[in-house]
Amino acid sequence: MMLFALWLLSLGLPTLWTQILIRCSYKSLCRRALLSDNDVVLQCEHPEALWYFSSIQEEEEPLLVSSLPNIRKLPGGSLQLTSPQPTQSGVYHCQDSAGALLVEYEIDFQDVGALHITHRGLGQVPLQNETAQLGGRVLVFTHWEPWQECNRCGEPGERKRLGYCYLEEEPLEKPMPCGLYLRGIVAHNGRLRPELQVEACHVPCKHSKETSQPYFIFDIYQLGTLTRDTWLTCPLASIYRPIIWEADGVPLTWQGQLSGQDLSTMLDPSNGGRRLQVFQPAIYKCFVQQELVARFNPKADMEKLESPWKVGARPRLQPHKGKADLVLQGLKLMLLVGLALGLLGGLFKFLCPARGKWGDQVLLVK
Ligand SMILES: *[C@@H]1O[C@H](CO)[C@@H](O)[C@H](O)[C@H]1NC(C)=O
Repeated sequence: MMLFALWLLSLGLPTLWTQILIRCSYKSLCRRALLSDNDVVLQCEHPEALWYFSSIQEEEEPLLVSSLPNIRKLPGGSLQLTSPQPTQSGVYHCQDSAGALLVEYEIDFQDVGALHITHRGLGQVPLQNETAQLGGRVLVFTHWEPWQECNRCGEPGERKRLGYCYLEEEPLEKPMPCGLYLRGIVAHNGRLRPELQVEACHVPCKHSKETSQPYFIFDIYQLGTLTRDTWLTCPLASIYRPIIWEADGVPLTWQGQLSGQDLSTMLDPSNGGRRLQVFQPAIYKCFVQQELVARFNPKADMEKLESPWKVGARPRLQPHKGKADLVLQGLKLMLLVGLALGLLGGLFKFLCPARGKWGDQVLLVK
């Protein structure tokens, strides 16, 4: 069901797909660094593509990847890696059924658990260049990706960029991702880690915000509003894409989190904030590439005392047709709430007529 909904959503959002696509031209070898735990797709457009993997750590025969549990060949031939691990760094070789090379990727999945995060607005500085003794004298530095798009438009937002650990032997030699250079050798050096840098941004909106794009609605039931927490996952989000969360209309920023101001929520840095830890009921919304993707409504639910955790019970797809519809939905909701309150009130009065006043008070507070 979830997959079907995701597929539907992807039709509505042609620019979005759940994973980032890594491309490399025909018959070439592309070498690059990525982050562990974040899904990617390696492109190889051939219906009968065969994929082989050789680890950088072990000198073993290349392995046919269909035997690896978190790796799946997509119908078009490309390879989908779900939550790849640093140990899965190595060469991914795509060939046709006759054995001819189609494309080859040498990937370093750098450990996202060691991610070094800094925010420019807080005066935090990224890691400095450093020379180290790793077999020989090498320069360790961060190779920065371009800044991602601003996560909001028309109002203040934030943007991030990823930086990968690279090593350079001589100033004029081509630098290499740290993991590919070290080939599995464990080096105890705190500089060998990927980075994430955030800064504030403010950009005008390119497209009108009144789109008719569908989004997910998740109703989540939880008990004990302040004692328990729950994790919300934004569909289609990724560390490689701009994303932002809102709680009751208030944006949740990295600046707020890294400065210790926002304590009521927690963005998970290891997936760029795809997952959000919440402790209080509120309407949480997530936006990916400035588009609303999902709305979550975690709330205390009196009827589910035995099973306090019913998370993401049924994702519903909600056509988003503009203001008129929203008002109508609001009216319907008010009508429903009013009806429920009225019924409850009647029941209270009926069951405990002596405490009728008390019952009314409780309902009023609600
Ligand atoms: C760090 O080293 C890289 C690679 O040689 C270089 O491009 C960059 O300018 C250096 N940064 C600083 C601050 O020296």
